[in-house]
Amino acid sequence: MSAARARSAALEERILGDPGSFRVLTGDRPTGRLHLGHYFGTLHNRVRLQDLGVEMFVVVADYQVLTDRDVADNLAGHVEDLVLDYLAVGVDPARSTIFTHSAVPALNQLMLPFLSLVSVAELNRNPTVKDEITHSRQSAVSGLMFTYPVHQAADILFCKADLVPVGQDQLPHLEVTRTVARRFNDRYGNGAAVFPQPDALLSSAPLLLGTDGRKMSKSRGNAVPLAADADETARLLKGARTDSERHIFYDPATRPEVSSLLLLAALCQKRTPGQVAEDIGSAGSAALKKTVTESVNEYLAPIRARRTAYAQDRAFVRRTLREGGERATAVAEATLAEVRTAMNSQY
Ligand code: TRP
Repeated sequence: MSAARARSAALEERILGDPGSFRVLTGDRPTGRLHLGHYFGTLHNRVRLQDLGVEMFVVVADYQVLTDRDVADNLAGHVEDLVLDYLAVGVDPARSTIFTHSAVPALNQLMLPFLSLVSVAELNRNPTVKDEITHSRQSAVSGLMFTYPVHQAADILFCKADLVPVGQDQLPHLEVTRTVARRFNDRYGNGAAVFPQPDALLSSAPLLLGTDGRKMSKSRGNAVPLAADADETARLLKGARTDSERHIFYDPATRPEVSSLLLLAALCQKRTPGQVAEDIGSAGSAALKKTVTESVNEYLAPIRARRTAYAQDRAFVRRTLREGGERATAVAEATLAEVRTAMNSQY
């Protein structure tokens, strides 16, 4: 078990003991509909934490969309889709604060002092940013791409979150946040900690593969969106890559595609992949896909029904963002006031 994973397991214990003492910040870029990989990777866990009584802030990271593209196409539509996905899976705006970057000026203002706390060499070393630059659709790397992990530190620290549920790829960013918090406290804290050093809460959910056998991802076009209807789900899963062995068994190392489908059905059925495989036996890939499709459609039916209902109530979606933005702004302004005091810039 990696050190990060061991820490996450220990944190889980503490959360169960006293959920009300933790504050979580999570979020996503509004670039399209969320999919099953997001759901079992993180959304499911966020709702679990919320329902345990952990206080949660969810950022719709609209400024972050501009890291790897010049223009954010259909931003309003993607923001609405993201909020609908959150509401559908059970993020409850009465208990959790859903907001966009652009609605919280004081959050964004924290980025300036934070930028002064990291070196260009450190920004240059971030492996996730390097990877994104390699895959970027832009010919030139923008200043925002280069510095967005510092912006993400502002996302996390404006509300003094102490927990950030993330996947492995976000760990370098969380290190930046911890560094910023530590250096701010050292430089300006006068012996007191203005910011906590937040911990990553690594998801224990194994990775789901997309229909082409690679990691499920919006940009690869291999994902099953949560908002897809039953027919679209059937069509997407029918096209999923498998292998030619008729006997179905779970072995991620030698049969990654078949095993990922078994895992998906198992997550939906709340059973183990091995049990699902036994049901199918030697009936082959077509039977496997049929089982997976039925399981996914059954599992998602209530989520999809809720999404459809919320989609017809756009006033509610707008109100969710407006009230979330107001709550986040109040918190951000209080933090910014502390920062100005610490930095001796209250004039
Ligand atoms: N970088 C995250 C993603 O691409 C989204 C995000 C923005 C985020 N700000 C955050 C995640 C703060 C965790 C904490 O999905």
